[in-house]
Amino acid sequence: MRLLVTGGAGFIGANFVHSTVQERPAVAVTVLDVLTYAGSRESLRSVDDQIRLIEGDLVDESLVDTLVAECDAVVHFAAETHVDNALAGPAPFVRSNVVGTFSVLEAVRRHGVRLHHVSTDEVYGDLPLHGDERFTAQTPFNPSSPYSATKASADLLVRAWVRSYGVRATISNCSNNYGPYQHIEKFIPRQITNVLTGRRPKLYGTGANVRDWIHVEDHNSAVWHILEGGVCGSTYLIGADGERDNLSVLQLILALMGRDADDFDHVPDRVGHDLRYAIDASALRAELGWTPKHTDLTEGLTSTIAWYRDNEWWWGPLKEQVEAGYTERGQ
Ligand SMILES: NC(=O)c1ccc[n+]([C@@H]2O[C@H](COP(=O)([O-])OP(=O)(O)OC[C@H]3O[C@@H](n4cnc5c(N)ncnc54)[C@H](O)[C@@H]3O)[C@@H](O)[C@H]2O)c1
Repeated sequence: MRLLVTGGAGFIGANFVHSTVQERPAVAVTVLDVLTYAGSRESLRSVDDQIRLIEGDLVDESLVDTLVAECDAVVHFAAETHVDNALAGPAPFVRSNVVGTFSVLEAVRRHGVRLHHVSTDEVYGDLPLHGDERFTAQTPFNPSSPYSATKASADLLVRAWVRSYGVRATISNCSNNYGPYQHIEKFIPRQITNVLTGRRPKLYGTGANVRDWIHVEDHNSAVWHILEGGVCGSTYLIGADGERDNLSVLQLILALMGRDADDFDHVPDRVGHDLRYAIDASALRAELGWTPKHTDLTEGLTSTIAWYRDNEWWWGPLKEQVEAGYTERGQ
């Protein structure tokens, strides 16, 4: 199988490329990535002689057309992804997430290539903090931020291309991921690298917001299940029953790193901060037999902390600049 992975130099994409190369040697992987600040050649360094990395933009229709024509399937991860950046400047989100997905869709339509589109549970908006309601594939879209609005727009384009043009595509909406190679602007790696560099971790507001954490390897194993067994036109929700509020996650990181439970600073909350996300992944489990492996958050965070401790070469050069950006925004 010749597989095109867009955004394969980003967090989830790079993990997907690593596990694919390791577990499926018969798959020939091409990565298309424009290498924004969030993408890095270094994330693919250990597999660079086993894959092809093309530095290019999703909105370059002729490049995307050429690459799609050469492959059997596309897994589309590439996107602008950081909510704080979307709030500060939404234009790149519309360009990459909406126009970029349109470009991929037109290419797979022309060449009859199978597509899996990777999306987020943030398209559904948020849930009340207390309660047991969870998102399903039937939950209506209700995005809160420019990030989630552009992801919802892309999902709608995919649905329409399936219906109108018979494109062979599936969609997945996953909850919050953690694991190796995640940019240190994101919540978990920011806190870990703050501790590793002698800074105090930072918590938005009171930390009551709830996220449904999943290890990136479990997200990616679900993507493979859907690519191989999913029904075209279907949307699959991916989650591993990992609901935790941000304060508990931060205090777990502090405990695992030998710091006091109150050794952090509160910073002003994000505007429009979604309260709670929770995924009902029972359809994916029942239909495709997928099960997550990393269901113990303490274990998953322990190995993630160890990865950041051992790989300062990967994140160290970024730390000053990322924190300077947060300081400028008062966070
Ligand atoms: N991180 C999460 O918790 C999470 C959860 C659910 C879904 N998702 C989705 O998974 C996908 C990957 O997320 P991530 O966390 O790995 O993101 P990331 O920001 O770490 O990586 C995104 C990658 O896409 C590339 N990219 C961006 N715009 C591009 C363009 N115009 N052309 C080519 N490449 C471009 C970047 O260079 C980067 O390598 C996204 O679609 C995101 O919406 C993420």
